[in-house]
Amino acid sequence: MLDREKSRLITQVTGDAPMGRLMREYWIPVARGEQLKAGAAPMRLTILGDKLVAFRSPSGEVGVMDEACPHRGASMALARNEPNGLRCIYHGWKIGADGLLRDAPTHPEHLPLERLKTRSHPVREQQGMVWTWLGKGAAPAFRELAFTGLPDDQVITATAVVKCNWLRPMETLWDVFHSQMLHHDTNRKIPFRGDNYFSNEGRKTDTGLMYDYPEMLVERTPYGFDLVNSDARKKTSGHFVLPFIQFHTIGPDPLEDKALKISVPIDDDTTLLWSVVFNRHGPLKETGFGLTNLGRCADRNDLFNNLKRGAARSADTRWNQDREAMERGDSFSGYEEAHPTLTLLAEDNYVLESQGEYDRSQEQLGPVDRALVEGRRVLLDALKAHEANGEAVGRGVDIPGVEARYILNEEEAAAG
Ligand code: FES
Ligand SMILES: [Fe+2]
Repeated sequence: MLDREKSRLITQVTGDAPMGRLMREYWIPVARGEQLKAGAAPMRLTILGDKLVAFRSPSGEVGVMDEACPHRGASMALARNEPNGLRCIYHGWKIGADGLLRDAPTHPEHLPLERLKTRSHPVREQQGMVWTWLGKGAAPAFRELAFTGLPDDQVITATAVVKCNWLRPMETLWDVFHSQMLHHDTNRKIPFRGDNYFSNEGRKTDTGLMYDYPEMLVERTPYGFDLVNSDARKKTSGHFVLPFIQFHTIGPDPLEDKALKISVPIDDDTTLLWSVVFNRHGPLKETGFGLTNLGRCADRNDLFNNLKRGAARSADTRWNQDREAMERGDSFSGYEEAHPTLTLLAEDNYVLESQGEYDRSQEQLGPVDRALVEGRRVLLDALKAHEANGEAVGRGVDIPGVEARYILNEEEAAAG
């Protein structure tokens, strides 16, 4: 458990909240590049509660700026997307993708335009992701992660808009044990896991559901912390990279695609959850995890649109749970979708949405929750360091070699 005050500290991000201030110290992925068409209407975005627009100029440059026009606050989502910048339709101020004011028809002709304040944000587009910097002062160097140096054909991304606080998706990745229960049936259907997930010799629930009780180890790192979930079948690692990135496993083949999630707060109660799948060994294969799962989703801008009535989910419909499939024994969770990634998405995120409130003071945790406890401590310590000396823990730490590992016990034994 975590008392209400600490729970509030690490979950709330809008306004002047300390966690929001910390997150502004890091580059943040805010949109998929595909969402921005050259010369098209600007896209409205909310990140950390800030109202923004993102756009691609007719010549292809991407810009991110505050939604409110710096002159008198009209929405720049209504702006004309002209060569060299967005032109506000109210009085015609024009701002370039580089954030510079290009024209201010309201002001005398020879006034130096730099005297007028604009509010735009540095942008970096790579691997189909648009990252921006919402902090004060000059943007820091971009941190290199396992996928950030790869060609586009070695990375596939998708986003999902989840109706929960940003910390819930991170917590569910730290809480590896839930995969034994919530994803019990799904794990067996993922070709990359299948028989590699359970030992089939572990504990049983009173209705005979077999699972493996793990030991959970954690270790602090300069970028956050690592976890190792060790059970009768395997060891899997996870790597938390401050402030909102978690590398997680797919299956044991070391050449198979790898994965991570990035949990970007839209506001305190809504999250832009990135799924990133990459392969450092070469282009993604047609038969690999990335292309057979994310690649098959018609809408990768909000994965919920690929689910059965996914966008319409609510507590009133039990998030569209199929009780008959549960009774028939076809699905442990009642959330079977067209393919395993979508089933995982439904299973994970409907449960997260059902958790509601940020308060964690009534939880009753056990030994398998060690990583969950550590993750929260890492965040509280990062907040302290930021408050004390402005440090953004891990921001300058390049980690191109960090990716999650999945090692079968039999292979470890064979390797001696
Ligand atoms: S409000 Fe945008 S130009 Fe005046
Ligand atoms: Fe999960």
